[in-house]
Amino acid sequence: MICIECGAKYLDGPSRYWCDRCNGLLEVVFDLEMLSADISLSWKKRPLGVWRYSELLPVRDPRTVISLGEGGTRLYHCDRLGSAIGLKRLFVKNEGDNPTGSFKDRGMTVGVSKAIELGMKYTICASTGNTSASLAAYSAKAGLKCVVLIPEGKIALGKIAQAIAYGARIVAIKGGFDDTMRLVKDICAVHPSVYLLNSINPHRLEGQKTIAFELVDQLKAVPDYVVVPVGNAGNISAIWKGFKELYNLGMIDELPKMVGIQAEGAAPLVKAFKKGWKRVEPVVDPKTKASAIRIGHPVNWKKALRAVKESKGLFESVSDEEILRAQWALASHEGIFIEPASAASIAGVIKLRDLGLLDGDELMVCIATGNGLKDPKYVLDNYEVRIVRISAELHKLREYLMELELSGNLKI
Ligand code: F0G
Repeated sequence: MICIECGAKYLDGPSRYWCDRCNGLLEVVFDLEMLSADISLSWKKRPLGVWRYSELLPVRDPRTVISLGEGGTRLYHCDRLGSAIGLKRLFVKNEGDNPTGSFKDRGMTVGVSKAIELGMKYTICASTGNTSASLAAYSAKAGLKCVVLIPEGKIALGKIAQAIAYGARIVAIKGGFDDTMRLVKDICAVHPSVYLLNSINPHRLEGQKTIAFELVDQLKAVPDYVVVPVGNAGNISAIWKGFKELYNLGMIDELPKMVGIQAEGAAPLVKAFKKGWKRVEPVVDPKTKASAIRIGHPVNWKKALRAVKESKGLFESVSDEEILRAQWALASHEGIFIEPASAASIAGVIKLRDLGLLDGDELMVCIATGNGLKDPKYVLDNYEVRIVRISAELHKLREYLMELELSGNLKI
């Protein structure tokens, strides 16, 4: 591992999440020249999924791998939504297909395998919901005890239900996500037998970079833009790392622009990017209905700023209203139901088009990070609910269908 701040190098070994010298973020590096000439031949023989790319994952012994069959998620060409918003080549990668319904599973299969390799007994994370669900599931499969810290009352229903069902010990903290994150970092600094599995853990991010590998395999091309909802800023950094590795291996000869989308009330990276700052100023009380990305002080901000700058991409923010409309637009045009934070990526694309930054021919990929069923209450609270009540009689139903036909809503 290498420190992205001071360049200090560390051999793979005991758990380490930040640089001993300067507290900087660490990154896993592979000696790409040591890899066999054409690993892509081996990849082609394996099914699409995280472990297809095992040569580029930091787990030494396949016998320690804890897997629930993560990755291999569907990539949809959204032609109906695309034509409605003037984009011919709009694709959505549905990470809600993963075993616990979010992209976090890609990181957890690697991170929890690493916990086993290192002989850890406990796993821990801070979470806005999906990380806790995923860590709880992988820890259950690995037979490890799992503790999750959540901001009290701020987690979507489906996610908390998952963490309970998978048997995690749940600690609710009075405060926001950033408070839970601080506590988890502090406890892991003094308790080496507890393994931290937030995205500050560089091994977890290695699993998430496989989104980039799968995209290239599925599209047989490099997207012009990859649009990612940003909270703690790990995923956008991981995906960019994945593309760069393919580029450095000579497997692709161009790179995408990375676009990070934050919710307006929780957008410290957007502000820093637009003002050209070198640092991110935390948002003290972040606000958005997209609870998964309600984060004011992203731990990976430095990696994410670097990813967006290197790729010549950008950060943009979207309002809660835009997120709601985007979720509805994707579900009602394409039959893909994603959670509010994920819909930020769709809202972001619509905003880029409105700002005149796109000409409509670009190959655009939105990363739909989590399944819509994670947060059913959001739909019930925010949509105009269209349920009519009738008695159980055939003529009543026929009357209703006639009305619909007259209003032009239904052809029968
Ligand atoms: N989308 C969803 C559905 C998420 O759950 C998260 C993060 C993100 C996007 C942002 O990803 O943090 O890598 O920038 N959820 C974390 C959690 C924080 O605790 O579940 P990021």
